[in-house]
Amino acid sequence: MYGGFLGNILTRVMIWMLCGLKCLSFGLNSFMIPSFWFAYISTHSFIYCRLVFAISSPPHYKIEYYFLATAHIAVLMMNYVEHTYAGTQNESGDEQLHLDIDSDNAVFAAIRASQVFWIAASEETPVETNVGPASGLATGNMFSLGFDPLDGSSIIDANFSVGSIFGIWPGKGVLGRKGSEQVASAVAVHGPRTTLCIALGASAVSTQKPIVLEVTLVHNRHTWELSRDAIHIQDEGKVFAPGNLRATNDNPQYNALVQHWISNRYTLRYSGGMVPDVYHIFAKSKGVFSNVSSEKAKAKLRLLYEVAPLGFMVECAGGVTTHEAHDQSVLDIPIEDLDQRLGVCFGSAKEVALYKQFMFTNGGATKK
Ligand code: F6P
Ligand code: MN
Repeated sequence: MYGGFLGNILTRVMIWMLCGLKCLSFGLNSFMIPSFWFAYISTHSFIYCRLVFAISSPPHYKIEYYFLATAHIAVLMMNYVEHTYAGTQNESGDEQLHLDIDSDNAVFAAIRASQVFWIAASEETPVETNVGPASGLATGNMFSLGFDPLDGSSIIDANFSVGSIFGIWPGKGVLGRKGSEQVASAVAVHGPRTTLCIALGASAVSTQKPIVLEVTLVHNRHTWELSRDAIHIQDEGKVFAPGNLRATNDNPQYNALVQHWISNRYTLRYSGGMVPDVYHIFAKSKGVFSNVSSEKAKAKLRLLYEVAPLGFMVECAGGVTTHEAHDQSVLDIPIEDLDQRLGVCFGSAKEVALYKQFMFTNGGATKK
């Protein structure tokens, strides 16, 4: 294992020297993480990644810490047998599982160790929490994080895939910011494989073109391997994931759209977890995800923790996003409240255009 690890470092250094690019090997930094991390992850292993990217400047948001947090959550899941509640509720009134709290703690521990974040807020800890260096002094470029540590806790007992969502903003604080200001976002899926999809915005890439890539946790959760180096969403794809379907009872536009999808023989792919349902679009490079509200079936997706990071990833991959009732990218909506909720449509450009046609015209919502 050590030989393999050193071999990888040498390979990366050689590629770096040969290419003459400003390259970053994520694994090298992971190796330097204090030893308590190795015990903390409990696999007692080096978590590293064989990635070498041309990146315009070092990603100070230290993506390797998402590898750590995700690997830690993967280990928590692996050892999760009893579906036990902690007896507490989060701000939204959802009963918290021990697993929700443990996953939240895993992410907070990782980002505190990274020393590059000022502020973090999560679905389980919904306050702007100071996670900066004890000195209070910046250690370089500093960031803020909004995250959902365990999306899908209502379906985890059925052993469905669940995930974690991370949105990374430059500077201090997330309130008043827009999704378009993110420098990067990441989403982990815990399914038959544990994968982490990473979106780097134009400002983080030397080519000034956003990229979305995927890494997979392999070798008994010891190693991250690059599994897809460029994820692009095609313009059309007849695959649909219709969230909050109960809204079709009192939202005729949504009802008509769903009927259109069915009568045009779209393929249904819906699990009830936002992460796997949106991730399906990345995996198949096409499709449409909606979560639409009505008078009687309110919107429940959170802008900060779920919609902005996933929306950023969709747009970095060439897809389109819209607010459910405004012809506006979800990345242009300011975060005015940590618990702000909204309905959305994400996906292939032509599929989202079709959504707008059904929802915003012929008596559909047009408020902006
Ligand atoms: O966080 C809310 C959530 O659990 C999402 O993960 C998911 O997309 C949505 O709720 C499912 O809503 P519904 O069951 O109403 O389709
Ligand atoms: Mn969630």
